[in-house]
This record gives sequence, structure tokens and C-alpha cells, in this order.
Amino acid sequence: MERSLLRPEDIIARAAEVLRENDMGGWTRASPTLYPHQWSWDSAFIAIGLAHLDTGRAAAEITSLLDHQWENGKIPHIVFNPEAPPESYFPGPEHWASAADGPEAPTGPAMTSGLCQPPVHAIAAMRILQVAEARGEGVAETREFLEEAYPKLLAWHRYLATARDPEESGLVTIYHPWESGTDNSPRWTPALERVEVGEIPHYERADLGHVPDPEERPTGYEYDRFIWLVEVIKRTGCDDDVLYEKCPFLAKDVLASAILVRANEALLEMAEVVGAPEVHRSTVSAWIERGHKGLEERWDPDLGLCADYDLRAGEPLAARTIAGFAPLIAGGGKPDQLRGLLRVLHSSDFAGYPDLRWPLPPSTSPDESGFLPRNYWRGPVWPVMNWLLWWSLEDSGERKRAARLKDYSLAQLSDGSFGEYYEPFTGEALGSDDQSWTAAVALDWLADEEGSKSQ
Ligand code: DGY
Repeated sequence: MERSLLRPEDIIARAAEVLRENDMGGWTRASPTLYPHQWSWDSAFIAIGLAHLDTGRAAAEITSLLDHQWENGKIPHIVFNPEAPPESYFPGPEHWASAADGPEAPTGPAMTSGLCQPPVHAIAAMRILQVAEARGEGVAETREFLEEAYPKLLAWHRYLATARDPEESGLVTIYHPWESGTDNSPRWTPALERVEVGEIPHYERADLGHVPDPEERPTGYEYDRFIWLVEVIKRTGCDDDVLYEKCPFLAKDVLASAILVRANEALLEMAEVVGAPEVHRSTVSAWIERGHKGLEERWDPDLGLCADYDLRAGEPLAARTIAGFAPLIAGGGKPDQLRGLLRVLHSSDFAGYPDLRWPLPPSTSPDESGFLPRNYWRGPVWPVMNWLLWWSLEDSGERKRAARLKDYSLAQLSDGSFGEYYEPFTGEALGSDDQSWTAAVALDWLADEEGSKSQ
């Protein structure tokens, strides 16, 4: 259906409505049908958007997720909604039940998955304080929230810096492409192809029933591997030491690592706010330094981007995807490298590719083999990725480029569908409509517009 284009004030109203409709009472489902549970990194982005509506509700979003933190500090990638019909999502809580017996899992019924996702949470928590301070509203309450969240976020980052990086490389190890949040991106294809699938019980995919066209979702070949890896991970009780030995998929994720660098910077600021001991600050500073070094080592001069690394095969995973901009997201890189990344971002490899509906970077370069314009992380434009790039550009002083990215992103969202992702050549919304994190980033962008007008 052709929709009329929304004005900024209507985008704000619709985005707020999307978040209200997805509000399950203290936490937000990622989307109305395709994702009926609470997803970890979705929730962090959602909190950033919610901050502009109600800082208390934004803080509650993070708190409700932290309530399900594992003993070892891991924030699970999904907290399941007990009210969601069992057939609405696969693999649901019953599928993870055996992992709930693991020593690190939170006690009680199986409410979470055993995986994790990129650590955007500390960034979101500090953004809530920023918004509260700018408005002069809810500052004391937000500070109280930070006092409670700080030790939990520190434990989360410690888990990533230790159990997920025993090599002390500064890079986060993942056991499943779902942990990257960019499930079927070509960045993982060679590593996934090396996974030998064992015996998996027959399963029905729920996701295909929630999208108009199966071409928008990962393939059966990919899903068999995803489900097999879940099986392997569960069987170890999600034991990190065993997974390091045995998991057939073991990779260093540069995007998650870059986000961790920025999240550690946010944690340092939080340490200041809550008056944390000096030793925390030196630990977190060391993680930041290590993160930059790790990313530096994964620089691929041929791609002009950063590349992930397959620890199992002992080889880099070179692919032109949005994750390659990791050093831009981590910030603080060398000026030459930043200039190079900006060139690639605007080149015909990404946002400068001919005939794009908007000059916005596709998740996978159209020149990359494996590019598919309608398929999930294999080509579509993701508003939430544009937000990360916009935020990073702003931070590195590239305000004009940041403004351009934001303006086109908002133009893309003015169709009002708040799609999960968008076909890069036609601008058609794909995946799920009314995706919470898309609404959230729209709110943050438009609050930024208001902020710049009043300056
Ligand atoms: C899904 O189910 O598609 C998710 O990406 C896994 O977290």
C-alpha cells in the first residue's frame, strides 16, 4: 500500500505510538509479531528512543534486561515473554530449557537464551542521563538508576573482556552468528560453511510466517546451521571454556568489539557519575586500549575496512559489509584511517552506489558476492546501523556528513512503516513493520534536530 509521507512531527507521533504498542509493561518487544520477546541490543537502542518520551521508562527498559543477567555477567540475547504463544517464535524458551540448568544461568524457569549480543547498553544508559540533564527532568532518578546498573554493566563488560577474550586480543569472540546481531551477513558465510551439521530434530520456522516473502529472511541452509549451533551451545550448558574448545563456529567480531570500546567509554563516564573506585577506571581504560589495538590488527588494507576473524579456521573473514566500519564506530582511530573509511563509506562500494533510493549504506556492499537487496543482512539498509554511523560521525567531528546521513535516514522513515530494514534501490520497507528500534532511532534523530534548532 502506498503511504503518504510523514512530516517530522508525525514521525515523532508515529514512532511514539510504535513504542507504546510494543510496550509489554516495563519492557518492549522488538516488533509486534516477528519478535515477540525482549532482545538485548534492541532494548538498548529502544531505551535511547524512550529517553525522549520518559527517562524513567527508558531506565526501566535496561533494568528489566539486567534483571535477567547471568551469574557470569552475560546479558542474554533474548529474555522470553512467557505470555507469547509458543508457536509465535522459534527457537523459544522450551528450546533453551536445558541450558537453564547450567551453573551460570539465572535461577528459575528458562526465561532467557544462552547467547549474547553487542553491548550497546552502557551507551544507552549514559544517553538517558544526557537527555535527563538536557531537559532538567528526572536527573536524580536517572543517577539512582545508574548506581544500580553500573556494577551489572561492569560485570557484563568483564565477561566480554575475559570469557569472550581469553587471548586478551581486545576482540570479542562469538559462538553463533546470532551473537553478532547480523545473522546471515556474508561476513560469516565462510565460517558458517565450515560448520558440519549434526543431527537436529525436525523444526518449524516461525519467522517465515511473519514476513510477506521468505526471500527477506535467512535461507534453510543457514537456519540448519543456526539451529545446530544452538544445539551444540546448549549441550555444553553454555560453558565458555568448553565452547572455546568445541564450538564449530568461533569468530572474533569486529563490530561487537568496536561497540564494546564505545560502551567502555560510556562505562568510564558512568564510573565518574557513581563515584566508582579508581581500580575500576584503570581496568576499563585498559580494556579500551586493548580494543583499539585489536581492531588495528584486524585492519584489511585491500578492503579499506576492518575484517572479522575465524578462530576455528585461523583466517580472516574478509567481506565488504557495514561491520567493516568498526574503527569509525570505535572512534579515536588514526586520521588517515578515518579519511579512508569515509571515502569507502561514500564510494560506490556503499552509500555512493548508483541508483540507490537514498545515499545510505547497504548492510552489504552491492559489489560483494552474496549481496541480495531484499535479504536481511545481505544488502538491505538498516536504520539502526545508520544511527550507529551517524552517532560515530558526530563524535569524530564529521558533522556535515552526520547531518546528511540523518536527513536521508529520516526521509527513508517518512513512509511511516518503521521497517526493520529497507530495500536499498526502491526504499521498500522489509522484514517486520513497526520495529521498535527503528522507531527509537527516529525519535533520537528528531530530538537531535530540535536540539540543533534551539542552539
Ligand atoms: C532471529 O530470530 O531472527 C534473531 O535474529 C535471533 O536472535
